[in-house]
Amino acid sequence: MSKNIESHLIEDRVFKPSKEFSKKARVSSMAQYRRMYKESIEKPSLFWAREAKELHWQKPWKKVLEWKAPFAKWFTEAKLNVCENCVDRHLSNGRKNKAAIIWEGEPGDKRVLTYHQLHREVCRFSNVLEANGVKARDRVLIYMPMVPEAAIAMLACARIGAVHSVVFGGFSAESISDRLEDSGATAVITADGGYRRGKVVPLKKNVDDALKKYQGVKRCIVYQRTNEKVTMKRGRDVWWHTEAKKVSADHTPKGFDSEHPLFILYTSGSTGKPKGILHTSGGYLVGTYTSSKYIFDMRNDDIFWCTADVGWVTGHSYIVFGPLANGVTQVMYEGAPNYPDFGRFWDIVEEYGVTTFYTAPTAIRAFIKAGDHLPDARDLSSLRLLGTVGEPINPEAWMWYREKIGSGRCPIVDTWWQTETGSIMISPLPGCTPTKPGTATLPFFGVDAAILDEEGNECKADEGGKLVIRKPWPSMLRTIYGDKARYRKTYWNDYEGIYTAGDGARTDKNGNFWIVGRLDDVLNVSGHRLGTAEVESALVAHKDVAEAAVVGRPHEIKGQGIVAFVTLKGQAKASPAAEKDLKAHVTKAIGAIARPDEIYFPPDGLPKTRSGKIMRRILKELVATGKVTGNVTTLEDFTVVRSLQKLLQKK
Ligand code: WTA
Repeated sequence: MSKNIESHLIEDRVFKPSKEFSKKARVSSMAQYRRMYKESIEKPSLFWAREAKELHWQKPWKKVLEWKAPFAKWFTEAKLNVCENCVDRHLSNGRKNKAAIIWEGEPGDKRVLTYHQLHREVCRFSNVLEANGVKARDRVLIYMPMVPEAAIAMLACARIGAVHSVVFGGFSAESISDRLEDSGATAVITADGGYRRGKVVPLKKNVDDALKKYQGVKRCIVYQRTNEKVTMKRGRDVWWHTEAKKVSADHTPKGFDSEHPLFILYTSGSTGKPKGILHTSGGYLVGTYTSSKYIFDMRNDDIFWCTADVGWVTGHSYIVFGPLANGVTQVMYEGAPNYPDFGRFWDIVEEYGVTTFYTAPTAIRAFIKAGDHLPDARDLSSLRLLGTVGEPINPEAWMWYREKIGSGRCPIVDTWWQTETGSIMISPLPGCTPTKPGTATLPFFGVDAAILDEEGNECKADEGGKLVIRKPWPSMLRTIYGDKARYRKTYWNDYEGIYTAGDGARTDKNGNFWIVGRLDDVLNVSGHRLGTAEVESALVAHKDVAEAAVVGRPHEIKGQGIVAFVTLKGQAKASPAAEKDLKAHVTKAIGAIARPDEIYFPPDGLPKTRSGKIMRRILKELVATGKVTGNVTTLEDFTVVRSLQKLLQKK
């Protein structure tokens, strides 16, 4: 235990990695971390060039960085093929017959793909894409279950220079058509269905519905997973397996410019319209490769398991690109953590001897609730390192994770980052950083993170402010697809030339970063970002809804739950049936993750300012505490608050 921690900090437990772990780790002392960090900040070109040289470039770069804020170019004029780095490279470095992906389906079916086999599958599918008219820079929407073919599809797109946009399999048809439209996609890769909690998710059907609204798709390639009966539209839809038979398993990876677009991934912001975050090739690969290597301390004999879905950035960076670029063996699992029960993950850890396990706090909270007997009944001794991502982890959950899953022996890396940052920005290095439950600790190499106040001054220790990054980094987003103005406005507007993350945070006396949460109207539900405005616009699109306000409130498992306040139009009646109908409506419009936990119909309307703006702050406080303490002088009518209080008490 460290004595020099401020007494007013609730959390004063400090855990250092064991000597044994440190000795073998890539970064084994704080002195080494500080030395490398200093170099990465003071001489970024030197630092990143050294890292980048571990990868394969078809043509070398002129300059490591060209920075005209807020637009960065990394490894200018270099040419590389991202897929070649993740796959082909390992055929000649001794990993040819090493398992790349050990996959388990939810029903219990199993597959192993060696790097050699992965290469053949990726080459074949690259040929399929090309034979079906997909060209470099074309946008390809991927809507797949967690099967190896999801990764194969992403890698094949990268190989031919097409820009993939993966949409999480839990999103609805309407979400798909919005993303198709915004990206201007011309091809879709999907499956007949996928397994989730013992049921089949009708993926192709959702795509069919989306394609009724958006006509720009020329080809839809369907992978057969569940043998569902699906409709195949002549001239547009083809089967993956039929197409794969027509082509060879050889494909030459062409070099693309370092700034060639790699993928677009949609994420929520504070407006109703999701933002298409654009990532490019060279910098993104270097960022995910380097962060995987140091933060997960990757070694050749690791069995790495990131439990995210490829539909989120975590799945992109720490299932597909980062770990494969490092040539490790990965576990990929198709289904839900609680199928058939909450012991499933621990069965998988035991069965495959997982060494490194990376999951979300929301999952950990669900495991705690499910009971210790589940992990206790499994052999988890293969684990050597644990990680979390997606939201602040509450100290109790951190301690449980450490004791129950890690037997008090495995370091925990609490990793802070975003879809926009492309790779992990703040995290312990497992071999050296002293960790405390609840903090993501220190910035990763090259990350000039700070907490600023409104005037742009750096906050003192324990003073809350805005989390910013003051220097460009290789895997940073390059823009919001098709909307440079929104890119500038969202991330670069608060301080000149400085990236604002949208999170509130503070540092402690030792420089550890404590993330408090989002500063904008973005909810974090089970580690997934959702804009309150998105849910509101879905509600308002319902024929009976006049007005809606959505706020988050603390939720035991999900971190945040969704509470909606709805004013109905003239004739419509507030009733349990109306509530049910609206919940189903939101599920249809966005997906089940956006379904409100509760919907209220305030009889006297919503709290508003005199100028008619809904005061969400008041609603937020009311659902969290039942009271309103903040400034209410701008509130138009206080009786609204009284009636809301009554309404909330009734439930
Ligand atoms: C939150 C996920 C605290 C944060 C990789 C961020 C976290 C948003 C952490 C990004 C963490 C992510 N501690 N908060 N370790 N990791 N967040 O884009 O609010 O889905 O801005 O990327 O999640 O979510 P996104």
